[in-house]
Amino acid sequence: MDELKAYIQKVSDATNETLEWILPPDTLYPASIHSLMRYSSFAGGKRLRPCLVIAAYEACGGEFNNPKILKIAAAIEMFHTFSLIHDDLPCMDDDDFRRGKPTAHKAYSEALAVLGGDALCIMAFEVLASIERVDIIAEIAAALGTGGMLGGQVVDIESEGKKVDRATVEYIHNNKTAALIRASVIAGALLANAPPDALEKLSSYGNNVGLAFQVVDDILDEESTTEALGKNVGSDRDKGKATFPSIVGMEESKRYAQELIENAWKDIEFLGEKNKILKDLAEYIRIRIS
Ligand code: IPE
Ligand code: IPE
Ligand code: MG
Ligand code: MG
Ligand code: MG
Repeated sequence: MDELKAYIQKVSDATNETLEWILPPDTLYPASIHSLMRYSSFAGGKRLRPCLVIAAYEACGGEFNNPKILKIAAAIEMFHTFSLIHDDLPCMDDDDFRRGKPTAHKAYSEALAVLGGDALCIMAFEVLASIERVDIIAEIAAALGTGGMLGGQVVDIESEGKKVDRATVEYIHNNKTAALIRASVIAGALLANAPPDALEKLSSYGNNVGLAFQVVDDILDEESTTEALGKNVGSDRDKGKATFPSIVGMEESKRYAQELIENAWKDIEFLGEKNKILKDLAEYIRIRIS
């Protein structure tokens, strides 16, 4: 895992450097929104999605220092940060802490958190446009829309306080979280011009890892600490969220997360030795609950 830690550090540094020049200076008028965009972007996320973008790209033959892949990685992190800012709003999950700091609407205002989230999303598409790969833009846009993240968020909110079935939680998690994680993997593979059969297997890997990631997030909301996560634990229970542990129990949630990771490993066997980082990233998600 030491090799993976070094890889995550390298990707985080490269992502931060890229975001540093993409994001407007926090002194640029109107300064408040630019300040919020930087506040949330540099609050200290794990940068898992940029790691998946770049690891998939490298596994398919790409080279780390291509400015295009770094732009895609940064754009994906901007979409993700936008989703977190909006997810924390009082009208959504109403959370006060994120990435170890007060949430954007607490540190600024609700109106600015809505607008700053919008701005990150829109600017990320501008960044992607500069790469001139319509296939990559289309893939990511589909993952963010009502057939992906937004659809998942709608059903997540509408399921609060209800006893939903397993298929519904599976729908929520596949869409609110796995869709963007899968698109991160696919975006990297597409830039490396991976062939259709590789894209198909990497798509399955992305989905398995993405679903596992949200099941693990649900487990940690019950079992971890606010200090370790940088966000309030117990938030799901307080809101009566449809989570894996609340629907199928803790033991089955852990077994299922394990099964999904094993399936993800099988998906990338075809890469041979080039699968090392993607394999370790899947393992990194699993060991968060072990
Ligand atoms: C949190 O994502 C939101 C979920 C989809 C569970 P991360 O756990 O990747 O958050 P950061 O980027 O590390 O803050
Ligand atoms: C978040 O799911 C999914 C998105 C932001 C799209 P959660 O609501 O479980 O994420 P956390 O726990 O607040 O990070
Ligand atoms: Mg939520
Ligand atoms: Mg939330
Ligand atoms: Mg959560």
